[in-house]
Amino acid sequence: MYVATDYPSYRLARRSQLLKRSALQEMLVAASRPEILSFALGLPAADLFPVDAYREAVATVLGDPRALQYGPPSEPLKRHIVQLMARRGVHCRAEQILLINGAQQGLALLAQLLLDDGGQVMLEELSYPGFQQVINLFRPAVVTVPTDPASGIDVEGVAACLARSRPAFLYAISSGHNPLGVSLTAEQQCELVALARHYRTPIVEDDAYGFIYYQDRPVPALRALDEEMVFYIGSFSKILAPALRTGWIIAPERFIPKLEIIKEASDIGTASLAQRTIAAVLDTGILPDHIAHLRRQYQARRDAMIQALEECFPLEAEWHTPDSGFFIWITLPEWVHSGELLARAIHEEQVAFVPGHAFCSQGGIHGTNCLRLNFSHCSIAQIEEGIARLGRLLKQQLVPTQMATVR
Ligand SMILES: Cc1ncc(COP(=O)(O)O)c(C=O)c1O
Repeated sequence: MYVATDYPSYRLARRSQLLKRSALQEMLVAASRPEILSFALGLPAADLFPVDAYREAVATVLGDPRALQYGPPSEPLKRHIVQLMARRGVHCRAEQILLINGAQQGLALLAQLLLDDGGQVMLEELSYPGFQQVINLFRPAVVTVPTDPASGIDVEGVAACLARSRPAFLYAISSGHNPLGVSLTAEQQCELVALARHYRTPIVEDDAYGFIYYQDRPVPALRALDEEMVFYIGSFSKILAPALRTGWIIAPERFIPKLEIIKEASDIGTASLAQRTIAAVLDTGILPDHIAHLRRQYQARRDAMIQALEECFPLEAEWHTPDSGFFIWITLPEWVHSGELLARAIHEEQVAFVPGHAFCSQGGIHGTNCLRLNFSHCSIAQIEEGIARLGRLLKQQLVPTQMATVR
C-alpha cells in the first residue's frame, strides 16, 4: 500500500527553496474566519463593487463568442486607459501600454525585464510584501532606503544610496503607500526623477491606489514627470474590482515588445473576457462618478477609523491620517511586540491586523512595534467596534508596565 512516506525523492529547483508564503497569505486564512473583524488585508469594500454594471457588461460582451476565445490585447481598453491616465496627470499613448493581470503581475514582468539574478534593487525599508516576494526569486542584493511614516521615502537616503550602488531600479509607491498610507509630495517626486535621470536608474512606480485619494488636488503620478525613467503600473482592482485581475503597465514604447514576450511566456495573455468586460463597463461612462463615490465612501471609513483611534487607543500609539489609499500605520512603544499582540487580538477580541514586521525589507527597521490597519473593507460600525476592541486590548497591555495614559 502507498503511504505518504513513500514519496520518491527528487530534487526541486534551487529557486523553489526561496519560496516563502507571505505573511499576508497567512493572514488571509486567520482573518477569513467569519467571527473575526479584520483590518488585515487591503481588500476593497465588496458592497461598493459596481455589480450591475458588470452584469450588463458581461451580457453585452458575451454577445460575441470571441470574448471566450484566446485573443489579442483589447485596443478599446487601452484607449480607455489613455483617458483614465489623464486623471493622474499622465499623457501616454496606447502603444506604451501593456495589459496585465493586475498590478502584481506588472511587478513580476518588470522585474524580469530589468533585474538580473543577484542584481541590486532599491526599495524602502517598509514596503509592499508582494513586491518583496517577486524579487526574492532573483536573490537580489537589496539596497534599503529609509522611509518615514509621516513623509515616506527619504529622498536624501535615495541620493546617498545611488551614489554608492547601481540598482537595476527603484521601487516606489507614489500614492497611498502600502503599508504607510503616505503619498509623495511634488517636491519629493521632482527630486526622485532628477536622481533617476542623473544615475540612469529607472523607477518602477506602483500606483495601485493612485485613484483613491482624499485631498482635492492630488499630486500627479511620477510618470507625469518622465516617460523614459518611470515604468508605471496601474490597476482596476481598487477602482472597479480585483476579481477580473486586470491592470496595465505604461513603459517606453520600445520595451513593449519585450514585455509582451515575457507576458506571453507567463500566461499567453490577459483573459479576453476580463479585458472586454472592463472595456464595456468603461464604455458606459460610469467610471468618473464611480471613483468619486468610492473616494467619498472610503474617506468616511478613514475618518471613522481615525476618530475611533483618537477615542479608544492609548496616548502612546502614533499614526498619521493618510491622504490616499486604504491603510493607517500605527507605531506603538518600542517594547510592544505586534505579532504577539495579533495572537491575543484574534484569540481574545476577534480582531485582526497585520503586524509591522510583515513589511520590512532586508536590512531596514524591524517594525515589530508597528501595525497596519486597513479601513476600506469593514463598514463604519465594524470599524468602531473593532477599534474599540483593539484599544481595550492595547490599554490592558500597556497599563501594567507603562501606566498608559488614556486618550
Ligand atoms: C502596493 C500594491 N501593489 C500591487 C498590489 C496588487 O494589486 P492587483 O490586485 O492589481 O494585482 C497591491 C494589492 O493590494 C498593492 O497593495
